[in-house]
Amino acid sequence: MQIYNGINGLRTSLNNDRSYKRRISLVPTMGNLHDGHLALIERAKETSDVVVCSIFVSALQFNLNKDWEQYPRTFDKDCEKLRAAGCDYLFHPNEIEMYANGLDTQTKVLCPYLTDVLCGASRPGHFEGVTTVVSKLFNIVQPDEAVFGVKDYQQLIVIKRLVDDLCFPVNIISAPIHRESDGLAMSSRNWHITDDERPKVIILKQSLDWIVERIQSGNLDFFELENEAKARIKKQGFDVDYITCCNSENLDSAANDDKKITVLGAMYTKKARLIDNVSITF
Ligand code: PAF
Repeated sequence: MQIYNGINGLRTSLNNDRSYKRRISLVPTMGNLHDGHLALIERAKETSDVVVCSIFVSALQFNLNKDWEQYPRTFDKDCEKLRAAGCDYLFHPNEIEMYANGLDTQTKVLCPYLTDVLCGASRPGHFEGVTTVVSKLFNIVQPDEAVFGVKDYQQLIVIKRLVDDLCFPVNIISAPIHRESDGLAMSSRNWHITDDERPKVIILKQSLDWIVERIQSGNLDFFELENEAKARIKKQGFDVDYITCCNSENLDSAANDDKKITVLGAMYTKKARLIDNVSITF
C-alpha cells in the first residue's frame, strides 16, 4: 500500500492508473478503523481496480474542538489493517494540506433541509463539514465510485444528493451495516461505551426492530410507535435524541403510501452518541 500525505503525489499516481483505464474507488474514513470500515474496502475491491482509502479527521464536521482533538488517532494500526485488507493507496493529509487557506475562510458546500433534520438538528454544522470535506476528497481523488456505510444513513442520503446536485461523476455505493454478534452496529464511537452500559445499548437496535415488526403487521401510527420505542430506551437509562420513521429517499416523515421506510434512531450513553437504522421495503 502506498501512503500519500500530499494531494499532488496522490494525483500523479492516480493519473497513471487512469491512463491504464483502471477503475478507482474511494473509501473516505476518519481512521480508527474497525471491521465495518474493512467491509467497505472489501466492497470497493469488488467493483474497482484501485482502492483509495482516506484517513482525515476534519475539524469542520466537529461541533466542539474538544471532540475533534479527542477523536482517536490510530494511524499505525489502521495502516496494518488496510494493508491486510488489500487497500492500494492511503491518503492521509494534514490540516494544512486540506485547508491550505485556513479553516475560517474555507469555501463550504451546503445541502439544505436534508442536513437540518435528525442528526443535523442536534449537531448544527456537522453535515456542512461532511459535504465540504467529501467534495474536496472527490475533487482530489476523482474516483469512479465511492463507498459509504448504511450505518450513517443520513450521511449516505446527503452524499447522494450532493453528487446529484453538483453533478459529481461518482457512483455512490452503499455498504450494509456491520454488526457485533448481539446486533450493535460497529462504530468508532463504541469504545466510549462503558462495561455496565454495553449489554444494554442493544436496546436501540431492538427498539428500531420492534417498530419495523409493528409496521410490517399493519400498524402505521408512526407517532405512537416512535413514542413507545423512546419509552423503551429511556427505561434502560439512556437519553433519546430521536426515533423517527422516514421516507428512505428524502428523509421526510414516513407516510402510509411510502414504498420504503427507514426507521432511524440516536441515543446518548454517558460518553457516546449512538446511531442506528433499519429499513423496510413494501
Ligand atoms: O463517515 C465518516 O467517517 C466521515 O463523515 C467522512 C465521510 C469520512 C467525512 O469526514
